[in-house]
Amino acid sequence: MGLLDGKIALVTGGADGIGAATVRRLAAEGATVVVTDINGDGATQLAAAVGGLGICHDAGSESGWEQVMNQVRETYGRLDVLVNNAGVGGGGAGDIEGQPLADFHKVMRVCLDSTFIGCKLAIGLMKHHGGSIINVSSVLGIRAAGFETAYSTAKGGVRLLTKSVAQHCARSGYGIRVNSVHPGYVLTNQVQTWIDAQENSQAVLEGLLAQHPIGYLGTPADIANGILFLACDQSRFMTGSELVMDGGYLL
Ligand SMILES: NC(=O)c1ccc[n+]([C@@H]2O[C@H](COP(=O)([O-])OP(=O)(O)OC[C@H]3O[C@@H](n4cnc5c(N)ncnc54)[C@H](O)[C@@H]3O)[C@@H](O)[C@H]2O)c1
Repeated sequence: MGLLDGKIALVTGGADGIGAATVRRLAAEGATVVVTDINGDGATQLAAAVGGLGICHDAGSESGWEQVMNQVRETYGRLDVLVNNAGVGGGGAGDIEGQPLADFHKVMRVCLDSTFIGCKLAIGLMKHHGGSIINVSSVLGIRAAGFETAYSTAKGGVRLLTKSVAQHCARSGYGIRVNSVHPGYVLTNQVQTWIDAQENSQAVLEGLLAQHPIGYLGTPADIANGILFLACDQSRFMTGSELVMDGGYLL
């Protein structure tokens, strides 16, 4: 028997990285998973592999969200778990002096607007039977990162948005729990590619390791395990909380 038998879950940005590991983990526990991603082919392929539904979706688009939720309603009639995972970094010059406003808006749109819209629309599909919403923030949503103004601001926003929605849902008696997760550096394909592309990649890796007292970086599966915990009833007394999975980064 799986922890999520009979549940319908949706993971944004589910084609790669933490999202893809989460899709596999939730499916392995019995959930039927809707995989959405701006990379529609990737979403479709992974969904086919786990017996779910893949949808091409830009998580920052409200009309896109409405189409996704309509498809979920028509196909399954319900939603039990939403993982707002899609996110992007600022790239290039990320400090306040160097970052163009357009880049700031792009990051806010994919990281924060997407989470706002996802929570808003998921409540309508969950409030008659309950559910669990997990928003993927970051350690940089708790500790400021001057080199990533937009990302840090957006992820800090995700942290408090989560608590605000959790309070509303709890006080409304919906049975919907809403929590955030805060990963430290996770060795996804993207992070590994970025490290490899640096001139001094060994020094970059050592610098990252030095920030994680546990002595290693996270894997996508490490974060997926935490998300699974928040998705299932094992965490039934948790709402509005922040699950830090960072190898001691914030210590
Ligand atoms: N990797 C890390 O070290 C780390 C640390 C802390 C937090 N996070 C957060 O975890 C989440 C996942 O990150 P990851 O490292 O697995 O990323 P990733 O880049 O490996 O994968 C992200 C996925 O999101 C998709 N995506 C990008 N823009 C999208 C959009 N507008 N709409 C829908 N999908 C979109 C990509 O196609 C990709 O499949 C993000 O919110 C990120 O900020 C990552």
